[in-house]
Amino acid sequence: MIDLHCHILPSIDDGAKNKEISLEMLKEQKSQGVQAIAFTPHFNFSRIDPEEFIRVRQKSFDKLMAVPEVKELGIKFKLGCEIYFSTKLNETDLDPLCYEDTNYILIELPTDRRPYGLKHTIVDILNRGYQPVLAHVERYPYFAENPVELYDFIEQGCVAQVNSGAVIDDDKTAMKYIKWGMAQLISSDAHNMKNRCPNMKEGFMRISKKYGEDYVDWFERNARNVFRGKYVDEPMMKKPKKIFGIWL
Ligand SMILES: [Fe+2]
Repeated sequence: MIDLHCHILPSIDDGAKNKEISLEMLKEQKSQGVQAIAFTPHFNFSRIDPEEFIRVRQKSFDKLMAVPEVKELGIKFKLGCEIYFSTKLNETDLDPLCYEDTNYILIELPTDRRPYGLKHTIVDILNRGYQPVLAHVERYPYFAENPVELYDFIEQGCVAQVNSGAVIDDDKTAMKYIKWGMAQLISSDAHNMKNRCPNMKEGFMRISKKYGEDYVDWFERNARNVFRGKYVDEPMMKKPKKIFGIWL
């Protein structure tokens, strides 16, 4: 398995508080069969400049890599970030914010309201040759109310990521997206070893049980392709339809 969304880098966001916790999380990932990890600390334009963020992220990464046991785990690492949506994305050099050596960029949207400029900004990012990975798509009520908007974003080249925890919790929205073929990646979004732990194995076990091994293969293949900067397979999506007020 490959985890493309987690907060394991030490002392940089609300994830791992120190390198000891980071190491514990990495050991847990390894024991669950995770072979490659993209580190995706939160980045918010309103809190820090991109240049300063990149510097702080590198420092945190170097601190973690200096722990001898980390290298002994044999996990492949890549830097990335989880960008809080902003129309500033339009005027920013996105190369340093993408998953390293790829054109994939992990973007988190607000959960309380559909943000101003969403469509325009996403289309602009796509037109510039980047592929937005929309983080935990099950969390946004405006997509749940109108899943066709998410469907259209995916059709235009966005990649939809669902949290492993939502699969484990049998989240209604996440399950619908998976059923409709609209979820392309499953990631942990792990923050710590208490209540938001690495949980890829359990998530994939649930997927296997509920949807079968083909789905597991599909999610694993997509994660591998994103990690390597290659195209993900064309999604076999079913366009959601509203019948008697229910999206089916
Ligand atoms: Fe996250």
